[in-house]
Amino acid sequence: MRVLVTGSSGFIAGHLVRRLAAAGHEVTGLDVAEPRRPVEGWRDVRLDLRDDEGVARVVAEARPEVVFHLAAQASVSVSMREPRLDIETNVIASLTLARAAAEAGTRRFVFTSSGGAMFGAPEIVPAGDDTPVEPRSFYGASKASAEKYLKIVEWETGMTVASVRPANVYGPYQDPHGEAGVVAIFAQRMLRGEPVTIFGSGTDTRDYVYVDDVVEAQVRASEAPGGEMCVIGTGEETSTRRIFDLLAQHCAYERAPVMGPPRAGDIARIALDSTRARDVWGWTPQVPLDEGLARTVQSFREQL
Ligand SMILES: NC(=O)c1ccc[n+]([C@@H]2O[C@H](COP(=O)([O-])OP(=O)(O)OC[C@H]3O[C@@H](n4cnc5c(N)ncnc54)[C@H](O)[C@@H]3O)[C@@H](O)[C@H]2O)c1
Repeated sequence: MRVLVTGSSGFIAGHLVRRLAAAGHEVTGLDVAEPRRPVEGWRDVRLDLRDDEGVARVVAEARPEVVFHLAAQASVSVSMREPRLDIETNVIASLTLARAAAEAGTRRFVFTSSGGAMFGAPEIVPAGDDTPVEPRSFYGASKASAEKYLKIVEWETGMTVASVRPANVYGPYQDPHGEAGVVAIFAQRMLRGEPVTIFGSGTDTRDYVYVDDVVEAQVRASEAPGGEMCVIGTGEETSTRRIFDLLAQHCAYERAPVMGPPRAGDIARIALDSTRARDVWGWTPQVPLDEGLARTVQSFREQL
């Protein structure tokens, strides 16, 4: 199959392009940033998705049967500081890419949305796909809006649009220098013997899903006949303090955490109920948290 993957220099799409190339697909990766790992087995294009003409040209050349769209302004705090950048990248560029893909004959478009940011602070946890969409950040609003725009492209063009809505994704090669991605940040600092800060009380919970499980959901979404929107999570709530303790064991880290002030906008608890993903894509999480953390620490250790 001919496949286009956007965001290919990033964390999740970096895993996806490798899996697709290993399966023998003809893959074009597109990202504005240089890849942090060697490119082997796919065509790698450097382009800002906000460049409409460039996007039309790349899509017309690649003629993808399937597009996996993961490139995004993926930071909640950047979205609050620069909502225009967030809207341009996550909504307008997604719309332009989808229309260009449909024009080039793409059959399926798999959008990566967000399960964590979509529902704000839901009354019932774990939150399923029927939970009211009430984002509390511009990032969440941009992902929810993009889903709506892409559904209109589906009606307009007949190209099937699916939406994968992951919880908190973790795994090897996640950027440890960002302000999100607590597993990567903690693991890297622990392996270096540096202090680790927990913001807030440490009791906030998140649903941590391993990157290979998210990639599997994307592949299944691309193979399913309908354009479904499904949250992808384990259903389990894990506190930040528990993540600290588990990682400390794997990293043989003996220092206590530094407790910092709570961060504005952080929600108290979230986990996702992936019943719909199980029903329509046959997807269930395969990698238990402790196993995923062990693999992640091992990978970071090798990189160091
Ligand atoms: N990591 C998570 O926990 C998580 C959870 C839910 C949803 N998501 C979504 O999954 C997708 C991938 O996330 P990630 O964690 O791999 O993030 P990432 O930041 O590692 O990757 C995103 C990539 O998009 C690229 N990009 C950004 N703006 C671009 C532009 N204008 N043109 C071209 N490329 C551009 C970046 O250079 C980067 O390589 C994003 O859509 C994100 O919103 C991630």
